[in-house]
Amino acid sequence: MEPRIDTGKPHTARIYDYYLGGKDNFAADRRTAERAMQSWPAVRTAVRENRAFLGRAVRFLVAEAGIRQFLDVGTGLPSANNVHEVAQALVPSCRVVYVDNDPIVLAHARALLTSSPEGRTAYIPADLREPEKILDDPVTRQTLDFTQPIALMLVAVLHFVPDEERPWRIVDTLLGALPSGSYLAATHVTAEHDPDTLAGAGRAYQERGLTGQIRTADEFAELAFRGLEMVDPGLTLVSEWRPRGAGPRPMPSEVNAYGGVARKP
Ligand SMILES: C[S@@+](CC[C@H](N)C(=O)[O-])C[C@H]1O[C@@H](n2cnc3c(N)ncnc32)[C@H](O)[C@@H]1O
Repeated sequence: MEPRIDTGKPHTARIYDYYLGGKDNFAADRRTAERAMQSWPAVRTAVRENRAFLGRAVRFLVAEAGIRQFLDVGTGLPSANNVHEVAQALVPSCRVVYVDNDPIVLAHARALLTSSPEGRTAYIPADLREPEKILDDPVTRQTLDFTQPIALMLVAVLHFVPDEERPWRIVDTLLGALPSGSYLAATHVTAEHDPDTLAGAGRAYQERGLTGQIRTADEFAELAFRGLEMVDPGLTLVSEWRPRGAGPRPMPSEVNAYGGVARKP
């Protein structure tokens, strides 16, 4: 039986879809998003910058780091430039396992399964907080070869796991299963550049039962990248990570999200 989609409660995947201009969201999601936008009017800029980071990170991983396999946890609703589309445009044989715990993402997963004939994509409904289940799932094992490097993608998802849920254990478990030469690409919301704005946006989520934790650059680095070799330019605002072109970039207080890519030694 497919899990029920509760349209009365906001969900982070659908709120994110609304920010990105998608159509897979409901009134409760839009209300939460609008409330967050009252405090953080530039959130749509931030979300677009986060999504653009995801694309640049995948391009780097395939074209420069030689990665051919991805484990993308917290995939979100299918949008433009999903991981397999970016990766397979460069190397069609790339393989991707998508993971999300929101039933609406499962309902739309067909759009993520449009692999090139040479490659492979798969989707599993699972929770980041149960990393063993993700790793042990037969679909994961059939799609990815754990003797070869894999890029773990934790893009805009770790801030939904507060410290009480021991996120460092999750990251350690997932990275621990990957061979040397694997990579992590991750992004995370921060309040360092505009504490008031982020406090207001955080309240909009919390008041509607969505939990999470905003972290500083140091806290994010310690959580996600401890023991890994950071790829240049290190941990930066997502908009400053290998930007393409010389056009103007948004202000830190608009972006409010850090990103980085690192290699497992
Ligand atoms: C902000 S969206 C990010 C989507 C995509 N990674 C991106 O950056 O464009 C966060 C996604 O993480 C998912 N998510 C949140 N908590 C999760 C959990 N505990 N396990 C799996 N997925 C989760 C949400 O359902 C949502 O689709």
